[in-house]
Amino acid sequence: MKKEFGIYIHIPFCSSICPFCNFNVYIDNKNDHNPLIGSMIDEISYMAPMFKEHTLKSIHIGGGTPSLLKVKNLEKIINKIHKVYKPNNFVEICIEINPYKFELEDFKNYHNIGINRVSVGIQSFDNKKLKKLGRQSNEKKNLEICEELNKSEILNINYDLIFGVPGETLDGLEYDLNKSIELKPKHISTYLLTIEEDTAFFDLVGKKKFQENTDDEIVNKIELIEDVLKTNNFSQYEISNYAKDTYVSKHNLLYWNNSSYLGIGPGAHSHFVDHDKNIYKRWENYHDVKKYISLANSNQNRFKSVENFDVSMYIKDSIMMGLRLNAGVNIQKLKLVKDFEFDKSEISKLLNLNLIKFENNYLRLTFKGRQLSNKVLDKIINNINDLTI
Ligand SMILES: C[S@@+](CC[C@H](N)C(=O)[O-])C[C@H]1O[C@@H](n2cnc3c(N)ncnc32)[C@H](O)[C@@H]1O
Ligand code: SF4
Repeated sequence: MKKEFGIYIHIPFCSSICPFCNFNVYIDNKNDHNPLIGSMIDEISYMAPMFKEHTLKSIHIGGGTPSLLKVKNLEKIINKIHKVYKPNNFVEICIEINPYKFELEDFKNYHNIGINRVSVGIQSFDNKKLKKLGRQSNEKKNLEICEELNKSEILNINYDLIFGVPGETLDGLEYDLNKSIELKPKHISTYLLTIEEDTAFFDLVGKKKFQENTDDEIVNKIELIEDVLKTNNFSQYEISNYAKDTYVSKHNLLYWNNSSYLGIGPGAHSHFVDHDKNIYKRWENYHDVKKYISLANSNQNRFKSVENFDVSMYIKDSIMMGLRLNAGVNIQKLKLVKDFEFDKSEISKLLNLNLIKFENNYLRLTFKGRQLSNKVLDKIINNINDLTI
């Protein structure tokens, strides 16, 4: 099996904190970013021996709001990765941005330092919905940024949309989808609003001041999204992700294929797989920025927790993650890592109920299976035989 990986760079600053978000982020007080960037650059080198046999496929600069960094700092990070990991010219280099003019650089500068994909957190074009989501933007400002981006040299553009927000109607969601399509991005991610702990929305739910969408409303919205985007030549390749032509996210595919990735920065997660050496490992960095910098300064690893797991867990995770993809998971290929069998009678039941399909060695969820994905995944994972070491 190919040894490949992606690098995720976590920039933990935002100019304001959205009421739905529980990522590891802190208000940016226009602090000096240089000490953190220095520590992240050290981490890029520090981790290199571990990934020396892996090929780098993607660099994803996310957060948080990486566009708050000066281009010079982004360039330092990208240059260091090139120097240490020597990726080829086809590596995907993506940056996440908010559509906030006051945070943004000229897109030309991003192109000049090698960034070839931009992911914009549009969320919606509806002013009321944007306000509810605590965004510092409105429809007009969103449109301006999208148009400016369309004039730049960067062709691979993604919009993140959120749906399932209180008060959002099917018509409102259709408006968001159609406005996005008009602006011709190559990729659209549609995320169902999830209520995360330690967020302002979570507190409102606790106080019964938050009207969550019903299950029926959500199913209708998922059907609408699939219908509108497919009619406009976006192919769904993952539960929440749609792409035109070949513009799938290389970085996210690494996650769904359960491949390796190296997370750099405070609170970043990493995953390391080496079948030849039977190493399966994941870890999470310390969240606190000062702690992260002090560990870097004393040349220690930045791990808050490390977990070594075994090949059985790897197989189960690969099935769970792979079934999010429309193409499904290549079972024959997985069996080369470690042989296993499914319980035939349980799998037949799922096949007869038209919840899953087996085609050319790929196991995948049907449309009906995707609606009940949690239950179906549970059934599959709990009916794998012969998976003991
Ligand atoms: C963590 S943000 C980082 C990029 C950028 N700061 C932004 O807000 O677009 C990446 C995306 O995660 C999604 N997201 C974050 N929290 C979410 C939640 N609770 N439910 C659904 N989507 C969420 C949003 O669509 C957002 O665009
Ligand atoms: S959604 Fe984006 S801008 Fe809002 S707090 Fe999270 S990372 Fe920051």
